[in-house]
Amino acid sequence: MTKKNEIIRKFKDLLSSLKKHNKFYYVEDAPRISDSQYDLIKKEILNLEDKFPYLKKIEEVNKIIGAEPSNKFKKVKHLFPMLSLSNAFNEKDMGDFLKKINNFLNLNNNNIELISEPKIDGISATLIYKKGELVKGLSRGDGYTGEDILKNLLTIKNIPKKINSINIPKLLEIRCEVYIGKKDFTKINDRFANPRNAAGGSLRQKNPKETAKIPLKYFAYGFGAVKPDTFKTQLEFLKKIAEWKFVTNPLVKISKNLSEVKKQHETINQLRSSLDYDIDGLVYKVNDLNLQKRLGNTSNSPRWAIAYKFSAEKAITKIKDITIQVGRTGAITPVAKVEPVNVGGVVVSNATLHNEDEIDRKDIRIGDTIQIQRAGDVIPQVLSVDKTRRKKESKKFVFPKHCLCGAETKKEISKNTKKQDAVRRCLKGYDCKYIAKEKLKHIVSKEAFNIDGLGKKVIDKFWNLNLIKEPSDIFNLNYDKIQNLEGWGKLSINNLKNAISKSQLISLDKFIFSIGIRHIGQENAKTLAGFFGSIKEFSKLFDSKQRKKKLLYLADLDGIGETQVQSIDNFFLNHTNTRITEKLINKLNVKNYSIQNIDGKFSNKKLMFTGGFKNMSRSEAKAIAENNGGKVLGSISKKLDYLVVGDSKPTKSKIDQAKILNIKIIFEKDWNNILNS
Ligand code: IVH
Repeated sequence: MTKKNEIIRKFKDLLSSLKKHNKFYYVEDAPRISDSQYDLIKKEILNLEDKFPYLKKIEEVNKIIGAEPSNKFKKVKHLFPMLSLSNAFNEKDMGDFLKKINNFLNLNNNNIELISEPKIDGISATLIYKKGELVKGLSRGDGYTGEDILKNLLTIKNIPKKINSINIPKLLEIRCEVYIGKKDFTKINDRFANPRNAAGGSLRQKNPKETAKIPLKYFAYGFGAVKPDTFKTQLEFLKKIAEWKFVTNPLVKISKNLSEVKKQHETINQLRSSLDYDIDGLVYKVNDLNLQKRLGNTSNSPRWAIAYKFSAEKAITKIKDITIQVGRTGAITPVAKVEPVNVGGVVVSNATLHNEDEIDRKDIRIGDTIQIQRAGDVIPQVLSVDKTRRKKESKKFVFPKHCLCGAETKKEISKNTKKQDAVRRCLKGYDCKYIAKEKLKHIVSKEAFNIDGLGKKVIDKFWNLNLIKEPSDIFNLNYDKIQNLEGWGKLSINNLKNAISKSQLISLDKFIFSIGIRHIGQENAKTLAGFFGSIKEFSKLFDSKQRKKKLLYLADLDGIGETQVQSIDNFFLNHTNTRITEKLINKLNVKNYSIQNIDGKFSNKKLMFTGGFKNMSRSEAKAIAENNGGKVLGSISKKLDYLVVGDSKPTKSKIDQAKILNIKIIFEKDWNNILNS
């Protein structure tokens, strides 16, 4: 072979190797070589090209190298959060859903119209149209901030780039689910476990050209921002956008009561396997958009919708052993190690046993033959024990009284019910290394610091290598050491550095949620952030005297009861907690918390409710007050601005107290007038 031919061959080999690794990295999110090895190939190609310019005619190297897509998508704040859905698993859950809606709206209507749509098991995205032109396409991200994936979405043929119709809203945000058809998935012959993962991989693909190779489809199911907003029902909305050439799912149906809900669920379940897309249940939505608005959202999911999942897959297996797991709150969860069994396509070898009481109640023993069930992504559960197949020598399971760290565990007495908790706990907090590790996983999670690239597995790895032992270590990582670890290279380290540095600017509510005080979830963290306002004020909890004072006020906040106050006190009484939290704060820039809608009807006012209203439930009244900038308190004090008195059975002593303290009283009809004004 001539020298020139040899060089050309080498050049082609290198290029094809680079293309192959591009695919592993960008398409499959699963690089097979380190970043530095990858860089070497690139360098060699460029060197050859430099030396032998005739190579330039062979292939446009820049298309493969130079056009390397940026590794991060631009982050864009959603106009309205993209929430998740709460789940129903049976008819009772659906009945409860209808009851809750009635309670919230203070109705007694057994015929609230629900519209059901298949719950497509894909990846959600949102499309923003201004004057009918598609201007933005975002991924869900953490629900509040998404990524700009417009270019990738544009590869989906039947997403309208322009809505060709008159009378379209000036601003229209279409929420949709992107998926890969089951048939197409089998053709891709790739290493993704299921179509959903493949769709995710393709959409998050940095190079739209790669996305275009995978046949993505979508169904539009909802809206975010719409101006002007003229739709009256979800059904009307779906029909309208179908006219505008969006793809909507044909399997929608209105149900007016529980038995119709059940019937539709069964009908679609029958059809399920014949559909070319995966669905894992039906989404039931209140059809009337006005009622949807009134119902609003909790912090994670709308009150007007629910995902009614198809029933879980079941299988029979045998318990090989029972071990325990320690959660971030110290909860000890028993886990059955079972003989691997295929449950609806997934091989299962662990099943949760929930807690000690559950094991006692079901008398579950090592060696037992059990039936397990897997619903969605959650860890499978043990449904029942087949005692007829139990051996004579089988012994009752004795629940370990110690944590994996060796400390004694306890069952606490609930403040509210005065009953003993079913869950045993290790109370060592950060002093238990098993809890500490779980706390770290919580801190980096989406809802907390949201650090891309620092998932549960990486935390496990970094923990074992002593790279991270407590939260502040995240901000002092030894990157030289990480660089030598398998799977890490320049690119991934840079990404991690960026993600970590970004996370250092955090809002006060997220910070409070992140530090993992028991009984302080996202909602309570927001309430506390609203109360403290700044990290400086919050830090007063570190000092026992100042804490006592602050805690007195906290009990007035709606949603913060004795349990929460006690839990906050316990958290800061523990020196390890305070030391770790202070160290963490030193690494951060915690943003002050300002309550939204400050210019609402009750901005900066504190309200309290007593008595029931005719037109709305207490929960709706509370939501209205908060959406208008008000704060709702749970007890009367001088700080209160208004006592709102419903006509039905108000507490007289509260009204008397309000009068003594000169607090303005708003009666039901005034309240309605204010809302309508
Ligand atoms: S309605 C939460 N309708 O399910 C706001 N969601 O678990 C209302 N999904 O993020 C969502 N099919 O991506 C709705 N017909 C459908 C859906 C659907 C799939 C996805 C969606 C959402 C997730 C919530």
